[in-house]
Amino acid sequence: MPLLKATACACSNIAFIKYWGNRDDALRIPVNGSISMNLDGLYTRTTVTFDPNLNADSALVDGREMSGGGMTRISHHLDQVRRRAGVETRARIESVSNFPAGVGIASSASAFAALSLAAVKALDLRMSEAELSALARLGSGSASRSIPTGFVEWFAGDSHESSFAASIAPVDHWALVDVVALVSKAHKATGSTEGHHTAATSPLQAARVADAARRLDLCRKALLSRDFEAFAEVVEQDSDIMHAIMMTGRPALFYWQPATLTIMAEVRRLRASGLPLLYTIDAGPNVHCLCPADYADQVDQAVRALPGVVDTLRAGVGHGAWVES
Ligand code: DP6
Repeated sequence: MPLLKATACACSNIAFIKYWGNRDDALRIPVNGSISMNLDGLYTRTTVTFDPNLNADSALVDGREMSGGGMTRISHHLDQVRRRAGVETRARIESVSNFPAGVGIASSASAFAALSLAAVKALDLRMSEAELSALARLGSGSASRSIPTGFVEWFAGDSHESSFAASIAPVDHWALVDVVALVSKAHKATGSTEGHHTAATSPLQAARVADAARRLDLCRKALLSRDFEAFAEVVEQDSDIMHAIMMTGRPALFYWQPATLTIMAEVRRLRASGLPLLYTIDAGPNVHCLCPADYADQVDQAVRALPGVVDTLRAGVGHGAWVES
């Protein structure tokens, strides 16, 4: 049997309506749907080589040989692809992301989206975009949203087949830019997967989930009509609610650092002064500051000047996952 090899890339994404908590942890079926935008230029490039001479999977991720839980997670994901292709061949993975991992810029999203697409291509499996998105979801929930292009909605669903993401607007629908204010480049203490497992221990989670359809609706409408004010209102509320769950679950997760709050206050102040700008924060201390592209320079300068901001990253709206060569 020849080597079966393919390379694929996928952008990271930033959620406007967040995924936090699963109704089925094993299948990563979320308790609520979510909406995101792919981040242009912040991506993972992954090569998968299925080789009959290998007796175990192995992976080189950002120059580090994977072992332990990280390797098991990748291997389990490859099992899903192998099962669908009816093969048992082990694989070598080589993966590089061009942004710091584990700082609240979902590296697992781009990583599992790129891994899924590369593995599917290498084994020449035919899959629809929805099937590929559902497959990526099994590796990391947010990876389901890095498969389709532009602005994306992940429909929660109630089964493997019905829980997938699809594009709700193309890349050129709205020229938004995410100016990520980096407070820390250190790896976060508690990853999202453990966080999802504890979400239900917060007494506030039930209220968050009960109100999710309303927030999804407001966000989708504001996005489709490019209504920045309405968009900012719901996106910030959704982020704040998710962090309230994190802080009040057991064990409690506090991702914010003092500089995180400084940036949030500055974003609110700038918006009150007329600048279209909003914040949203994932499972880390860094703050995603979103604005129309015309304001990105001004926003970048303003956040860089704040105490505790060590750097910024910038990304426009990105495409869906793609196969290379
Ligand atoms: C806070 O998709 O990273 O970024 O499915 O366990 O890999 P796993 O979790 P992950 O969770 C993302 C959480 C979030 C919000 C979001 O992106 O929707």
